[in-house]
Parts: sequence; structure tokens; C-alpha cells
Amino acid sequence: MCGIVGYVGRRSAVDVVIDGLRRLEYRGYDSAGVALVADGPEGGLEVDKRAGKLANLEGALADHPLPESFCGIGHTRWATHGVPSDRNAHPHLSADGRVALIHNGIIENFAQLRAELESEGVEFESDTDTEAAAHLLGREYAVDGDLTEAMTRVCVRLEGAFTLLAVAADDPDTVVGARRNSPLVVGLGEGEYFLASDVAAFIAYTTDAVELGQDQIVTIDRDGVTVRGFDGQASEGTPFSVDWDIAAAEKGGFDTFMRKEIHEQPAAVADTLRGRIDESGQIVLDEVRMSDQDFRDIDKVFIIACGTSYHAGLVTKYAIEHWTRIPCEVELASEFRYRDPVLDRSTLVVAISQSGETMDTLMAVRHAKDQKARVLSISNTVGSTIPRESDAVLYTRAGIEVAVASTKAFLTQLAACYLVGLHLAQVRGIKYADEVSAVLDELVAAPGKIAKVIEDLEPVRQMARDCASAQRVLFIGRHVGYPVALEGALKLKELAYLHAEGFAAGELKHGPISLIEEGTPVIAIVPSPRGRSLLHDKIISNIQEVKARGAKVIAVCEEGDRITKAHADLVITTPASPTLLAPLLTAVPLQEFAAELATALGRDIDQPRNLAKSVTVE
Ligand code: M6R
Repeated sequence: MCGIVGYVGRRSAVDVVIDGLRRLEYRGYDSAGVALVADGPEGGLEVDKRAGKLANLEGALADHPLPESFCGIGHTRWATHGVPSDRNAHPHLSADGRVALIHNGIIENFAQLRAELESEGVEFESDTDTEAAAHLLGREYAVDGDLTEAMTRVCVRLEGAFTLLAVAADDPDTVVGARRNSPLVVGLGEGEYFLASDVAAFIAYTTDAVELGQDQIVTIDRDGVTVRGFDGQASEGTPFSVDWDIAAAEKGGFDTFMRKEIHEQPAAVADTLRGRIDESGQIVLDEVRMSDQDFRDIDKVFIIACGTSYHAGLVTKYAIEHWTRIPCEVELASEFRYRDPVLDRSTLVVAISQSGETMDTLMAVRHAKDQKARVLSISNTVGSTIPRESDAVLYTRAGIEVAVASTKAFLTQLAACYLVGLHLAQVRGIKYADEVSAVLDELVAAPGKIAKVIEDLEPVRQMARDCASAQRVLFIGRHVGYPVALEGALKLKELAYLHAEGFAAGELKHGPISLIEEGTPVIAIVPSPRGRSLLHDKIISNIQEVKARGAKVIAVCEEGDRITKAHADLVITTPASPTLLAPLLTAVPLQEFAAELATALGRDIDQPRNLAKSVTVE
């Protein structure tokens, strides 16, 4: 939700800031804006901001370039308070025009602050929560002309989640940032420093970074970086080095990031598994502040997550309950803390979040910790808030995922979740020892099979184009095929803006079957005909039921599954796999199906409307 960049150094600030915003646009694209401090003794703030995508701002800056500057801030917005418009775009200025402020998050007490400021005669120009903080900052800056001190005094008055960056008209050498419950990292160059929501913004210039903690204020100038707490005491961030480079943040010859990321899945899954299974076949977690005895004491597992990550959790439930015999519930993080779940020391909460910053999941984690539950997180973002606040973490190694629609994040989450399930099983004593060791072998073989699925996607693209005029597309599955159906529908909804729904195949006859009309595409996720053939038989019956009502059935089934071929109108085949691991393969054609159908409808598949990649508000 909103991307922010700050820069001080020797390069053109507008170039660095716009370049950074381009890489952060996945976080929101309702409007974009910059504020630069003009170089020279006079200083002065130069602001331009435009509704719509970054391209609008870039066009405006090309027509009316801003004066030379080496210090500035920039913002790309996902609107919360106030419609997307030039007026509501960031930066916001203080009443005296001496400071400019950008913000990611929500200032929950903004109405009270606004009323207070208005009663003192301040006139607001926008509908945002941010503007109240800009006016407060301007007022405090006027006291002593020290932007860091002013920011410190303002932050203690704010409630909610915020990352703030500010510059002042008469200080062409300083950017001040503050962070609570929203991400902010520092980039360390030589004689130049960066502040951003995500390292992607400055990866073209440096891989040396510092992660800031909760309630910290950071000041960058040409001489370096200083960090203090909201209490004014000197503090420090945590240095780290970014282990990917600029090429990873580019499209690399693909037309969209999403297509590039679909193709990166075999390597991403292989990376996620690499080194996690030691010579004795034991699973290795990254950071564990839990003993084996803590894991043995677990008698209940809750998985909490949102969106695609929630679907990875649904698959994991089947695996954990089967391998460990521990009851496992999966819950939408946004619902979890509002229904008073029964948690205690013997509950393991598994929080899945690609970004590690999703506010709904973070708040659920905090609730679980308040109730004394243990929290193990699965995240793609090293050092992000959710892993930092967890008792144990397993990082997925998907690399940066830029497209708003999750693809490689989903598959790597599945891989990591399987490892967690197997770890739990190993620590507690394995019931199905032979099966678990076979599953480990199959997991290691999965990247090769995913690559095979990706090689064979052309027929899927044709099927997608043929469905472009459909009113709706339904997805059905059983067992782990059910969460895959949900994920296929989510991808299609978010990318194509088309009515798509996933159902447990057995539920259709309890209502949703009435949605089917002549020609309605139904995509059926068919389990392997081997082993669990009862499951296979049941979904064949469901296919017959929908066909009898006019549906056009596209089945995703295992290679060599002749029965399904005989019943479906079209088939997409995937290599043979154990049932529990099949989602690693069956999800892939559904990603491509959604991308291609959306492309046929002329949608922007990397940046679908109304969405943002990292959802840092509740
Ligand atoms: O960063 P997270 O994994 O916590 O994000 C959760 C969801 O917002 C995310 O999975 C979303 O549903 C996907 N972008 C959809 O493709």
C-alpha cells in the first residue's frame, strides 16, 4: 500500500526518485508525486503530483521539468482516505509551505487532529489523513527549524500505521523518515543515501541496506544516517545485504512481470527447498526461537493468511493433519482476532505472508502472541515485520515478485509449508515414515515437473482466449484441488475483472450449480486416478453433473488419465505427483489461463485496477 522513496546525494534527485517509484509502483498506482528541495542558497520546495499511474507524472515532468535538486521524496499511492485525484496525491505541504510530507499507512486519529488544526485556523486542501500530519510537522518545524526534532514530536501524537518521509524548503541536504507498523529501509551508497518502502527502489545503486525497527526515526544527509527512537534516544537499525540485483527487478524479455514470474517458478521452488533438508533427511528451519519440546507440546495448529497465501494455508491443512495427526484450522487473518479464537501455549500459529507486512496478518500474529500461542511465519521478505515478531520463521526464496497477482510466491509458500508439515511430523514422531520419505523425494523432484508444465502452456493460452467472452468461469476441486480451484478463481477475478468462483466440487449441487448455463466454462481440478481413486470417481461424477447442464468442462488432470479425458471437453495435463503435492503443478496452468484471458480482454495484468501488492492497512 503506497510506495515511498527518499534520496540525498550527488545524482539528480528527480531521476533517482522516479526510478525508485517505477520499481515500487506495484504497491499502489492511484496517483504519484514528488517533492524536491531546490539546490542553492535559496532552497525552496518544488512539488508535482498527478492522479493515475506514474506515467502521468512522468509526462508532466517531461513537459515542465523541475529545477536541479539532489534531495527529494516521491510517493506512489493506493488510496485509503480520499479518492484518487491530484488534490489527494502526495506529497502534502504544511500550511506555511515549508515542509512536504509523504505517507504510507493510516493515521487513525486523523479526524481528531484535523478538527484541532481546523479550530486553530488551518485550512485543509485534501481529504487525506496524511495532510493533518503535514500541518503538524510544519508547525513543529517552525519552532526550531530542526526537521528530525519536529518529526519526533509529531510521531508521538499519531496513532495507527505509518511510514512518513519529509523534506524542508530550507534544508537541501536532509530527508527525515519515521516508521511504525509500516516498512522502511535505508540504502547506503557512497556519499548518497536512500529511504524506501522496499529495497527494489534503490537496488540499481546499492545492495547495502539497513532495516529499521518499530517506532524509529531516521535522518539521511550527505554525511550519513542517524537513527533514534520515538522517545528521542539514539538507536540503530539492522544492516543487511540484498542478495539479488537489478536484473531480478526487470522484465527480462517477457512482456509482463507476471509472465516472467510464472517462468521463474521452477527455480524459485528449487531455491526454497535448497539446504532445507539435511544429510539425515531432517528439515532445517531458518530462525527458530522454539525448542523441539515446544514443537512436541503443540496440540493444535492455526494457519492465518490472506488471499493467495490463505489458499496455500488451505492446502497445508490437508498435509499437516495427514502427516502429523494434529488438528489444523485455516483462518482468514482479517477475521481471526475478531472472533475470540481459543489459543494457548500449546497452539502453533503459522502465519503465511509473502510481503511479511500484511496488516491483517500482522495484527492476527500479535493477537496470537498476546494469547501466548507460538508463531511460526512463512515469508518471502527477510527482516519484514511478521517474521521479526514470530518465534520461528522459514523464508521462501522466491526473489522479488513485482506483479500484483501472486504466482511464484504461492508455489514457494506451498513448498515451505510442506517443509513445516514435515518438520512437525519429524519432531513429533512420524506416523507414515515411508510416505514422508517418499514425499521428500517427490518435493525435490517438483521443480523439474513444474518446468514441464510451463513448457506445455500453449494449449492453455488457446483455451483462455476461447473463454474470453464468457460471463463467468467456475472452478471446482476436491481435497487439495479445492484450494487450487479457489486460487484459480482469485487469479481470474483480480486480473480479468470477470465473475469467477471456486467451489468444493461436492458443494455444487447444494446451490451453485444453478449458475451453470449452456457453455459456462467449468475448470475441474482432478486428483490423480492412482491411490485415492474414490476422490477421482467423485469428481468424475461432478464433471458429469455440470456437463449435463450445459457446462464446457476443462479438466486439469494427470498425464495418462484416460477416464477424465473421456468425460471432459478439454484437458490440461500435469505430470504424476502424490496427491498432497499436486497443487505445485495444477496451480500453474490456472495462472497462465488467467493471465491470457485478461490479456485478451485488454487488462493490465501486472497492475490490475483497485489493487496493490502489499496490503499494509486493515
Ligand atoms: O503479502 P501477503 O502474502 O501477506 O499478501 C496476501 C494477499 O494480499 C496476496 O496473496 C494477494 O491475495 C495476491 N496478490 C493475489 O494474487
